[in-house]
Amino acid sequence: MHPTTAVLLFLATNVEGSSPYISYRTSASAASIAIDRIKRENRLTGYDFKFTILYDQCDENLAAGNAIKLFRDYNVDVLIGPTTNIPAIPVFTLATYYNTPIVTWGMTSSATLDDASRYPTAGIISIGSRSLAVTFREVMLEYGWDQFVYAYSLEGDDEKCETMRDDFQNMIAYYGDIVLSYTIQIMDHSEAGLLAVLKDVSTRGRIIVPCFHEGNTRGLHRRWMLVAARNGFVTDEYVYIIPSLRSKGYAIQQDDGSYRYPWVDSTGPQPSDHEAIPGFQRSIFIVDMQGQGKIGSNYSVFEDEVIRRMKQPPYNCTDACSAQEYQHAATYAGQLHDAVYLYGLAMERVLITAPTQYRNGTQFAQYLVGTFTGVGGPIVIDDSGGRSPTLFVLTLDANNTSSIIMTVDVDQQSAEVTKLYSNEATAVWYHRKGIRPPDEPVCGYTGSKCPANVFYENMGWFIAAIIVILLTILGAILAFVYLFYAKRQEVERQNALWQIPYKSMMTVAKKGKGEHSMRSISSVPSTISSTRSSTLSENEVEIEKVAARKYTIRTLFDNKICANMRQM
Ligand SMILES: *[C@@H]1O[C@H](CO)[C@@H](O)[C@H](O)[C@H]1NC(C)=O
Ligand SMILES: *[C@@H]1O[C@H](CO)[C@@H](O)[C@H](O)[C@H]1NC(C)=O
Ligand SMILES: *[C@@H]1O[C@H](CO)[C@@H](O)[C@H](O)[C@H]1NC(C)=O
Ligand SMILES: *[C@@H]1O[C@H](CO)[C@@H](O)[C@H](O)[C@H]1NC(C)=O
Ligand SMILES: *[C@@H]1O[C@H](CO)[C@@H](O)[C@H](O)[C@H]1NC(C)=O
Repeated sequence: MHPTTAVLLFLATNVEGSSPYISYRTSASAASIAIDRIKRENRLTGYDFKFTILYDQCDENLAAGNAIKLFRDYNVDVLIGPTTNIPAIPVFTLATYYNTPIVTWGMTSSATLDDASRYPTAGIISIGSRSLAVTFREVMLEYGWDQFVYAYSLEGDDEKCETMRDDFQNMIAYYGDIVLSYTIQIMDHSEAGLLAVLKDVSTRGRIIVPCFHEGNTRGLHRRWMLVAARNGFVTDEYVYIIPSLRSKGYAIQQDDGSYRYPWVDSTGPQPSDHEAIPGFQRSIFIVDMQGQGKIGSNYSVFEDEVIRRMKQPPYNCTDACSAQEYQHAATYAGQLHDAVYLYGLAMERVLITAPTQYRNGTQFAQYLVGTFTGVGGPIVIDDSGGRSPTLFVLTLDANNTSSIIMTVDVDQQSAEVTKLYSNEATAVWYHRKGIRPPDEPVCGYTGSKCPANVFYENMGWFIAAIIVILLTILGAILAFVYLFYAKRQEVERQNALWQIPYKSMMTVAKKGKGEHSMRSISSVPSTISSTRSSTLSENEVEIEKVAARKYTIRTLFDNKICANMRQM
C-alpha cells in the first residue's frame, strides 16, 4: 500500500520584477514537466503528485514560518526549495528537525549548505560556489600560474563576491599550492575608482580576478575593461579571470530574453564598445553556463514548454504571467525540473529497498546519490547530497566569439579537466600573439627585478655630459662665425683705404682753357680733360684730392682685383 506523494514546491518569489533566475511565474511548471517525464518513463506507477505552493519572497522569516506550516500542517513528504541562500539556512535546519527530505535548486550556492553532517536530509541541485574555486585552481595549474590578486565589489549586495573570497581562501588553505597575493574591495565604481584599483592590483599581480555582482546587469565588467584598455592594463601580460555562477560568460541575458556581448552597453551599442573588446580578449570566464552548457538549442524547447504550461492547472497563471518579462523561462527552471525528477528517481529506489522510510530524511538522502540526465545535461549528486557540477572555461576566439576551452568536472575538492583544444597558442592565446603569459612578468610587477638599465641609472651624468658637449659645439660655431665676421670687417676696412665712395665725389665745374693746357703739359693724352663729366673728391677727411671719371659701364671688382688693389 503506497501513499500518494505530496510534493511541495517552495518557490522563492512571486513578486513583480523578481529575479529572472528563479521567478515563480517563469519556472514553476518545470515541476509538472518533470512529473510527466517520470510517468513517461514508467517510474512510480500508480503514484499521484500533489503540489502545495507557498512563497518565501526571498525573506528568511517568511521562509522559516512557511516551512513550519508545510512540515506540520501540510505534512509534506519532500520540500523542493527554497532557492536563495539566506532563506535556505533556517529551512534546512527545520528540515533536519522534522527529518524531512529537502531538495533545493536555483541560487542556493553557499558552501554552508553543502555540509552533510549539519543538514543530513538535503539534496542540492544548484551549483555551489566552492566548485568555482576548485575550477579556478585547475585553470591556474593548467597554465602554470600560482599567484593571483582578487578585486571584489559588494555593490548589489548579493553575497556573491564575499562568498567567493571565502571560498578562494578555503581552497588556498586546503591545497597550499596557490597564493592569493592581494585582496581589495572596490568601493568606488566610477571610472576613477576602478582605475585606482587597477593601478593598485597591477603592482602585485598579473592574474587578476575581478568580481562584480550577479548577472553583470549594471555593466561593471564593461566599465572595468574600458578603464583597463584606456590606461594600459590590457597588454599581453594581463589575464582577467572572471569566475561566475549564473552566467554564460560572453553572453549577457537581457530583459527580453535575448543576449548581448559584455562589451555592448546595456542601453544599446555605443561607439566606445569597441574600446572594451581588447580587455575581454584578455579575459577567461569560468561559468556554469546557467545549467545549459551541453544542450544548446534543445534547451529552448524546454523553455517554451515551461512558459506554455504556466497557463495550465495547477498554476493557472494567465493574467499574472502575461507581461512581456514572463515570456522567457527563468534561468534555473531546468534545475527545478531536475530537482523534482531527482526526487522521483530516489523515491523509486527507496520504495524498492526501504518502502517505509520514504519520509525519513536522513535515510532518504542516501538515495539521492547518483547520476542522471537533467534538462541541461548529466547531473552527478555526490554522497554528501551536493552536486558535482561541470563548469565551463571560456575565452574569446579569433573571431571575438565565445569559445569553450575546457570543461571541468568538480567532485567536492577534486576535479577532472577536459581540454577542448589541441593547439593552445591559437585556441587560448590568439589575442596575445599565441604566447602564454607568465603570472609574473620577467622584470616583476614594477619592473624592479631586471638589472637596472645603465642609461636610466646614470641619467643625471648623461644629461650633464650631453649639455657640456652641446655647449662646446655651440661655442665653436660662435667662434667660427665671429672670426669669419671679423675677417670680412678687416677686408672691408682695407678696401675702404683705396675705394672712394661715389657719394663723397662732386662734379667739377667746366674749367677754363688754362687748366686744360696745364693738363696738356703733363703730356697725358687729352682724353680725361675732354670729358665733361669728370668728378673730383672734395672729402674734407681725404688728404689728397683725386680726379676720377665715371665709367659708362659698371666694372665688377672681384676678390682678386680687390686684393690687388689693397696691395697697391
Ligand atoms: C532534445 O534532446 C532529446 C534527448 O535528450 C531528444 O530526444 C530530442 O529530440 C531533442 N530535441 C531537439 C529539438 O533537438
Ligand atoms: C485552475 O483552473 C482549473 C480549470 O481551468 C480549475 O479546475 C482549477 O481549480 C484552477 N486551479 C486553481 C489553483 O485555481
Ligand atoms: C531514519 O533513518 C535513520 C538512518 O537510516 C535511522 O537511524 C532512523 O532510525 C530512522 N528513523 C525512523 C523513524 O525510522
Ligand atoms: C572565424 O570565422 C570564419 C568565417 O566565419 C571561420 O572560417 C573561422 O573558422 C572562424 N574561426 C574560429 C576560430 O572560429
Ligand atoms: C575583434 O575585435 C577587435 C577590437 O574591436 C577588432 O579590431 C577585430 O577586428 C575583431 N575581430 C573580428 C574577427 O571581428
